[in-house]
Amino acid sequence: MRQIDRVEESFDQAVLNFSQILSSLSYALDLTSGYTMGHAQRTCLIGMRIAQELGLPPTSQTDLYFALLLKDSGCSSNAARMCEIFGGDEIASKQLSRVTDWDNLIEVVKYVASVSLPKRSIIARAGRFLKVGLNGKGTTDEVSHTRCTRGAQIAQSLGMGPDSAACIGSLEERWNGAGSPNHLKHEEIPLLSRIASVAQNLEVFWKTFDLDLAYEVINKRSGRWFDPQIVQVVNSFRHDTSFWTSISEDPKSALRRVNCEATVEKATDDRIDSVCSAFAEIVDAKSPFTGEHSFRVCQYSVEIGSDLGFTGRRLTTLRRASLLHDIGKLGVSNAILDKPGKLDPEEWLSIRKHPQYSFEILSHIDGFSRLAEIAGAHHERLDGKGYFRGLTADQLDLDMRIVAVADVFDALTAKRPYRDSLPMDKVFEILAKDADIALDSECIEALKQRYFDSEALEPTLPIAA
Ligand SMILES: [Fe+2]
Ligand SMILES: [Fe+2]
Repeated sequence: MRQIDRVEESFDQAVLNFSQILSSLSYALDLTSGYTMGHAQRTCLIGMRIAQELGLPPTSQTDLYFALLLKDSGCSSNAARMCEIFGGDEIASKQLSRVTDWDNLIEVVKYVASVSLPKRSIIARAGRFLKVGLNGKGTTDEVSHTRCTRGAQIAQSLGMGPDSAACIGSLEERWNGAGSPNHLKHEEIPLLSRIASVAQNLEVFWKTFDLDLAYEVINKRSGRWFDPQIVQVVNSFRHDTSFWTSISEDPKSALRRVNCEATVEKATDDRIDSVCSAFAEIVDAKSPFTGEHSFRVCQYSVEIGSDLGFTGRRLTTLRRASLLHDIGKLGVSNAILDKPGKLDPEEWLSIRKHPQYSFEILSHIDGFSRLAEIAGAHHERLDGKGYFRGLTADQLDLDMRIVAVADVFDALTAKRPYRDSLPMDKVFEILAKDADIALDSECIEALKQRYFDSEALEPTLPIAA
């Protein structure tokens, strides 16, 4: 067995803070929901200001804080369906839907017309327009239900309180009962959801247009979409210029300064693992073609790492990096990820960006720089023909090579809707052609020792150190 190359362990348990990890990972949720980067952070700051003006008890403030950072964790679960309904880029559809007034028929018609099959003939577009239009409310309820229910489940799996989960579960309800998915009305809607709804809409209109227009929209919809009492509270800090400046310039730092118990929670090892697993689930939920891919790549990576002598924190880092390696896919539309035919050059460019997004998202988290490097390199190849940087063998350490091999191995062995998993002899025949040209031969050999004689793979998910 070869000597394991020494890689500086930059993962420092002491600096990790739970809210800071969630705050940085919320960039991935902004991406998949079509928001401007930092949306969840700014929404959280606006929501916390409302909570403090209302004098909510500390536990409710903590629940709201986490709910606002995680509010879009269910968004990847309706991505494939949104794509199927409209036949176009679901990230763009979501973006436009945020600034559409769903009570205004002309705006709704304009929305459906502009997002239905944008690349197809006028006849195909008209057909889709009618189909979506006829089932308008049912469609909205369905996608809202998926988003809100899944988001609430993820919050619970991360140990958030029931009020946090309930806040996410009713985020799309409206004061007048015309929201989704359960058409709750007035005080039937949890208070935290009413706050979150105002905060997220204020942020969207502020960042899409400007603060004056954002306030105009919120006030126009008071008593219709929004609880009038919350709107009144929001109006009370309209002219607090230092508040708006601080959350606009550096929301990440502003979040750390919020006076709330949530900001001082330490990130224990177990909690970090549960966050990594939750975000792996969010990534895997995005596409029906890749269900559990992140967990399988994690399993294979840990197996190869263990066989090559990894232990302790190095194995922990490898496990987390492989779970999160495709987090950047949240920034790629399902119209491309799930496209059955050949990708055009522009679509290829989008696909090739996902490891870069993984790198950038993870780089924002103090103590995750090593995870970012490993995850960002999972499509690099020893011959320099990989992406996104085109690194070569001397720049790819063993951890990066392991995840790259595990990723290809899963692509070859996983069942696809259009084909069964390949037999093992075929899989290793394909891998052998790339050994030491594109992929590390020792990593391939480690998998061969474990799996060559296997008939079929039934990975045990997840993930022991
Ligand atoms: Fe990937
Ligand atoms: Fe992958």
